[in-house]
Amino acid sequence: MPPAAFAERVLAWFDVHGRHGLPWQADRDPYRIWVSEIMLQQTQVATVIPYYQRFMTRFPDVASLAAADLDTVLGFWTGLGYYARGRNLHRAAQWVLAHHKGCFPTDPESLRELPGIGRSTAAAIAALSTGAREPILDGNVKRVLCRFLALDLPPGTARDRRLWAAAEALTPTSRVDAYTQAMMDLGATCCTPRRPQCARCPLRPDCRAVALNQVESFPRRAVRRAAPEVAVTLLAIGDPDGRIWLERRPPRGIWGGMWCLPECPPETVPADWCARWFGEVPASCAALPEIRHVLTHRRLRVQPWQLQLSSGWADPGLREGVWYQSGTMPPGGMVKPVLDLLAGPIGGVQG
Ligand code: ADE
Repeated sequence: MPPAAFAERVLAWFDVHGRHGLPWQADRDPYRIWVSEIMLQQTQVATVIPYYQRFMTRFPDVASLAAADLDTVLGFWTGLGYYARGRNLHRAAQWVLAHHKGCFPTDPESLRELPGIGRSTAAAIAALSTGAREPILDGNVKRVLCRFLALDLPPGTARDRRLWAAAEALTPTSRVDAYTQAMMDLGATCCTPRRPQCARCPLRPDCRAVALNQVESFPRRAVRRAAPEVAVTLLAIGDPDGRIWLERRPPRGIWGGMWCLPECPPETVPADWCARWFGEVPASCAALPEIRHVLTHRRLRVQPWQLQLSSGWADPGLREGVWYQSGTMPPGGMVKPVLDLLAGPIGGVQG
């Protein structure tokens, strides 16, 4: 099939079945498109929309994002997951202020200098904001092309080289912005990982995986070991005023930069840990039900403990953190398991 015919069919499908009228499609502002592309990495459109709208109201341009503190930015990321994206976004905004005088770049080379932007995201931002002819190859598009070509290679550089060459050859010379969105939409809504809707696909007549009757065998999957399981002990320490002690996680590692309950080393007895750091043996100390939480490279087994201080003079002097009243404005970004605990078992603690 000639490349022009490929793009023509994809574009005709997009005009009828593609996603139009999304909040980041209102104009070609590269800042707005960038924020949407970062939020859309690993996250579905329907989940992203409310986060995107709140974020844009608070940070309408790159200068406002760069000027904010990281806690405020991560506060707007609470619940969206993959928090490194929020940290990178903030750093990238500061880079744009320092190196581009606050004018958000649109050329792929400058875009790729920004933390959190790889080759495909740079191409998407360039194509969607200027219509530049840059090939797109995000995870969804990889799946479309692997199937269309019945590319029987495991994930890796050899396969990526072939896919980038195909993506480059198939990118049209006009309507590149629409084509870019179309390919991502086709992968996300039609050529889905499981139970793809081939009957609705404009590429079906020429799809080699369809011809082989093996659509779901492509793309070939990596032989992947299960992510290691990690035990994490979190302490919900309540003071007599019903507040809970929260600390900001170190910038690197699990939940970097997010606010969380303090973590107690697995070999330490929670009441001893509390006595050591707060100078008081808690009046009560009880294990709560374990929570399982899956991250990209780890499966967490979170064991929360509820500890109650009663004297009113407990002093976590050597630890940095805040006493947080559940239901009030959080001090920064909060992770899902802690939010769930605050909303549930430990939220109503009173002294
Ligand atoms: N995933 C990444 N970018 C996307 C976009 N612009 N539309 C839909 N899904 C996406």
